[in-house]
Amino acid sequence: MTVTRSIVLGCGSYLPERIVTNAELASRIDTSDEWIVQRTGIRQRHIAAEGENTSHLGLKAAQAALANAGVDAQSIDLIILATSTPDNTFPATSVDIQRGLGINHGVAFDLQAVCSGFVFAMATADNFLRSGSHKRALVIGAETFSRILDWEDRTTCVLFGDGAGAVVLEAQQQPGATSDRGILTSHLRSDGRHKAKLYVDGGVSSTQTVGHLRMEGKEVFKHAVGMITDVIYDAFKATGITADDIDWLVPHQANKRIIDASAQKLRIAPQKVVLTVDKHGNTSAASIPLALCDAVADGRIKKGNLILFEAMGGGFTWGSVLLRW
Ligand code: COA
Repeated sequence: MTVTRSIVLGCGSYLPERIVTNAELASRIDTSDEWIVQRTGIRQRHIAAEGENTSHLGLKAAQAALANAGVDAQSIDLIILATSTPDNTFPATSVDIQRGLGINHGVAFDLQAVCSGFVFAMATADNFLRSGSHKRALVIGAETFSRILDWEDRTTCVLFGDGAGAVVLEAQQQPGATSDRGILTSHLRSDGRHKAKLYVDGGVSSTQTVGHLRMEGKEVFKHAVGMITDVIYDAFKATGITADDIDWLVPHQANKRIIDASAQKLRIAPQKVVLTVDKHGNTSAASIPLALCDAVADGRIKKGNLILFEAMGGGFTWGSVLLRW
């Protein structure tokens, strides 16, 4: 008996043109390249131009993913955009992207789980596809975090950047084994008791302002590795797959120290970890598809490889997705 799996047909990404180096930040605020690199691994980030919004970044990533998959936009019947930085309070930014792609059938909606957004969106799309209600999905992570940063706050503004990434998923029949292509398992968690550790101090209903990102960095760090590894162990338990079987860990790119510590705890070798945090900073929901596209474009990720996504972010939210390319 076969099972329905969500197979990745292709991926694409987009980064705004403007690169802001640590040295440029150090010329404006009291920080240094050395401090930022040593604590986070970040060397530069891309920042969206004035008038360049999340929908513009997301649309370009979606177009690149469709081209890479070799499929027509009209064949897409589901679009899920993971973002915490929508163009407008409403309508959903995904609907703008849908219009930009010339699609007026099917469904598009936004999903908000901050830095875990892409993992949550992949798991959600997988459920739609496996239920049989939809056939081909675009899953996008797109963010303009530069718009919610307090550029006077050196403890947060050095960490984030803008960008977008996307994948095309298709429902296909597979034998029903761990050797199947596609998403094999996903595990999502959230715990609102941690809200005050990472949040934006504004919002439509509370302050009628956009607000700025606020974070207790040490507290986030303290919880990150445990939460990340917990949901990865859940994926291993559900499938019988072990760390040794993993070809590529594609983690949320928040901080090199968190990524290194998580991989070490899981006993995944550093050469199997895709790292882009140095070039992109933390692009929240866009960071995993951006890293994924890098490793696909340069030939590291190949058909049949076993790939593990993990993320943790504001809420807290955290999750993992295990898939075969
Ligand atoms: N440049 C220079 N100095 C800085 C600085 C910066 N950009 N930001 C903070 N500092 C200073 C602090 O003011 C502090 O100085 P003090 O000792 O004189 O008070 C010192 O550096 C140490 O600050 P601290 O906050 O203890 O540093 P840290 O080792 O915890 O590193 C983070 C800070 C943010 C890099 C780290 O906590 C972290 O990575 N947290 C996780 C953040 C994250 O990944 N969030 C996203 C999750 S999705």
